[in-house]
Amino acid sequence: MAKRNIVKVPDPILYKKCRVVENFDERLWTLLDDMKETLIEANGAGLAAPQVAVLKRACIVDTEDGFFELINPVITSTSGEQTGLEGCLSVPKKYGNVSRPMKVTVKAQDRFGKEQKLTVKGFTARAFCHEIDHLDGIIYTTKCTETFDEE
Ligand code: NI
Repeated sequence: MAKRNIVKVPDPILYKKCRVVENFDERLWTLLDDMKETLIEANGAGLAAPQVAVLKRACIVDTEDGFFELINPVITSTSGEQTGLEGCLSVPKKYGNVSRPMKVTVKAQDRFGKEQKLTVKGFTARAFCHEIDHLDGIIYTTKCTETFDEE
Protein backbone atom coordinates (compact mmCIF):
# COMPACT_ATOMS: atom_id res chain seq x y z
CA MET A 1 0.00 0.00 0.00
CA ALA A 2 1.05 3.55 -0.55
CA LYS A 3 -0.27 6.84 0.64
CA ARG A 4 -1.52 9.09 -2.16
CA ASN A 5 -1.80 12.86 -2.31
CA ILE A 6 -5.22 14.27 -1.52
CA VAL A 7 -6.49 16.72 -4.14
CA LYS A 8 -7.74 19.98 -2.64
CA VAL A 9 -10.27 22.54 -3.84
CA PRO A 10 -10.38 24.30 -6.25
CA ASP A 11 -8.67 21.58 -8.35
CA PRO A 12 -11.02 20.98 -11.33
CA ILE A 13 -10.76 17.19 -10.93
CA LEU A 14 -13.01 17.44 -7.85
CA TYR A 15 -15.89 18.83 -9.92
CA LYS A 16 -15.93 16.12 -12.58
CA LYS A 17 -18.33 13.21 -12.90
CA CYS A 18 -16.56 9.89 -12.39
CA ARG A 19 -16.69 6.90 -14.72
CA VAL A 20 -18.32 3.58 -13.91
CA VAL A 21 -15.82 0.91 -12.76
CA GLU A 22 -15.88 -2.02 -15.18
CA ASN A 23 -12.69 -3.87 -14.29
CA PHE A 24 -12.47 -5.41 -10.84
CA ASP A 25 -8.80 -6.12 -11.15
CA GLU A 26 -5.53 -5.56 -9.33
CA ARG A 27 -5.43 -1.95 -10.45
CA LEU A 28 -8.71 -1.30 -8.60
CA TRP A 29 -7.56 -3.24 -5.53
CA THR A 30 -4.34 -1.22 -5.36
CA LEU A 31 -6.37 1.98 -5.63
CA LEU A 32 -8.66 0.86 -2.78
CA ASP A 33 -5.74 -0.24 -0.59
CA ASP A 34 -3.95 3.06 -1.20
CA MET A 35 -7.13 5.01 -0.45
CA LYS A 36 -7.50 3.15 2.86
CA GLU A 37 -3.94 3.97 3.87
CA THR A 38 -4.44 7.60 2.82
CA LEU A 39 -7.69 7.84 4.80
CA ILE A 40 -6.19 6.34 7.96
CA GLU A 41 -3.17 8.65 7.73
CA ALA A 42 -5.49 11.67 7.29
CA ASN A 43 -7.73 10.47 10.15
CA GLY A 44 -10.89 10.91 8.03
CA ALA A 45 -14.26 9.16 7.86
CA GLY A 46 -14.37 8.71 4.10
CA LEU A 47 -12.51 9.18 0.85
CA ALA A 48 -13.59 9.07 -2.79
CA ALA A 49 -11.38 8.14 -5.75
CA PRO A 50 -11.48 11.63 -7.31
CA GLN A 51 -9.87 12.94 -4.10
CA VAL A 52 -6.77 10.97 -5.09
CA ALA A 53 -7.11 12.13 -8.71
CA VAL A 54 -8.77 8.98 -10.07
CA LEU A 55 -12.07 9.58 -11.85
CA LYS A 56 -13.66 6.24 -10.99
CA ARG A 57 -16.89 5.55 -9.12
CA ALA A 58 -15.24 4.13 -6.00
CA CYS A 59 -15.23 5.39 -2.44
CA ILE A 60 -14.50 4.15 1.06
CA VAL A 61 -16.12 4.96 4.39
CA ASP A 62 -14.69 4.22 7.84
CA THR A 63 -16.99 4.76 10.82
CA GLU A 64 -17.95 3.01 14.05
CA ASP A 65 -20.32 0.90 11.91
CA GLY A 66 -17.39 -0.55 10.00
CA PHE A 67 -15.16 -0.11 6.99
CA PHE A 68 -16.97 0.00 3.65
CA GLU A 69 -15.75 -0.16 0.06
CA LEU A 70 -18.39 1.08 -2.36
CA ILE A 71 -17.90 0.55 -6.08
CA ASN A 72 -20.46 2.07 -8.45
CA PRO A 73 -22.72 2.98 -5.53
CA VAL A 74 -26.30 4.11 -6.11
CA ILE A 75 -28.61 5.38 -3.39
CA THR A 76 -31.82 3.42 -3.87
CA SER A 77 -33.87 4.79 -0.99
CA THR A 78 -33.67 7.34 1.78
CA SER A 79 -35.72 8.25 4.84
CA GLY A 80 -35.75 10.92 7.48
CA GLU A 81 -33.47 13.90 7.76
CA GLN A 82 -30.50 15.01 9.82
CA THR A 83 -28.53 18.24 9.88
CA GLY A 84 -25.00 18.27 11.15
CA LEU A 85 -21.44 19.44 10.67
CA GLU A 86 -19.42 18.03 7.81
CA GLY A 87 -15.85 18.46 6.75
CA CYS A 88 -13.85 17.15 3.82
CA LEU A 89 -10.20 16.19 3.40
CA SER A 90 -10.26 18.15 0.13
CA VAL A 91 -11.45 21.31 1.91
CA PRO A 92 -8.93 21.67 4.73
CA LYS A 93 -9.81 23.34 8.02
CA LYS A 94 -13.43 24.09 7.11
CA TYR A 95 -16.75 22.77 8.41
CA GLY A 96 -20.35 23.39 7.49
CA ASN A 97 -23.86 22.21 8.36
CA VAL A 98 -25.44 19.96 5.76
CA SER A 99 -28.87 18.31 5.68
CA ARG A 100 -28.76 14.62 4.75
CA PRO A 101 -31.17 11.69 5.00
CA MET A 102 -31.17 9.94 8.39
CA LYS A 103 -31.15 6.54 6.71
CA VAL A 104 -30.01 5.42 3.26
CA THR A 105 -30.02 2.18 1.33
CA VAL A 106 -27.21 1.87 -1.17
CA LYS A 107 -26.70 -0.65 -3.93
CA ALA A 108 -23.00 -1.06 -4.69
CA GLN A 109 -20.43 -3.59 -5.79
CA ASP A 110 -17.55 -4.84 -3.68
CA ARG A 111 -13.95 -4.98 -4.91
CA PHE A 112 -14.65 -8.26 -6.70
CA GLY A 113 -17.71 -6.94 -8.52
CA LYS A 114 -20.23 -8.67 -6.29
CA GLU A 115 -23.44 -6.68 -5.79
CA GLN A 116 -24.35 -5.74 -2.26
CA LYS A 117 -27.14 -3.80 -0.65
CA LEU A 118 -26.37 -1.80 2.47
CA THR A 119 -28.69 0.12 4.77
CA VAL A 120 -26.99 2.55 7.14
CA LYS A 121 -28.13 5.39 9.34
CA GLY A 122 -26.90 8.39 11.29
CA PHE A 123 -23.30 9.44 10.79
CA THR A 124 -22.56 6.52 8.45
CA ALA A 125 -25.50 7.51 6.23
CA ARG A 126 -24.11 11.04 6.17
CA ALA A 127 -20.66 9.74 5.19
CA PHE A 128 -22.13 7.55 2.41
CA CYS A 129 -24.02 10.55 0.95
CA HIS A 130 -20.95 12.80 1.18
CA GLU A 131 -18.68 10.29 -0.57
CA ILE A 132 -21.21 9.36 -3.25
CA ASP A 133 -21.63 13.08 -3.99
CA HIS A 134 -17.89 13.24 -4.70
CA LEU A 135 -18.38 10.74 -7.54
CA ASP A 136 -20.66 13.26 -9.24
CA GLY A 137 -18.29 16.16 -8.65
CA ILE A 138 -20.33 17.57 -5.78
CA ILE A 139 -18.50 19.07 -2.80
CA TYR A 140 -20.47 19.44 0.46
CA THR A 141 -19.78 23.20 0.57
CA THR A 142 -22.29 23.65 -2.28
CA LYS A 143 -24.96 22.17 0.04
CA CYS A 144 -24.47 24.40 3.06
CA THR A 145 -25.24 28.03 3.58
CA GLU A 146 -21.96 28.85 5.31
CA THR A 147 -18.70 27.22 6.30
CA PHE A 148 -16.77 27.73 9.51
CA ASP A 149 -13.02 27.79 10.03
CA GLU A 150 -11.54 25.14 12.24
CA GLU A 151 -10.57 26.58 15.63
NI1 NI B 1 -15.21 14.91 1.05
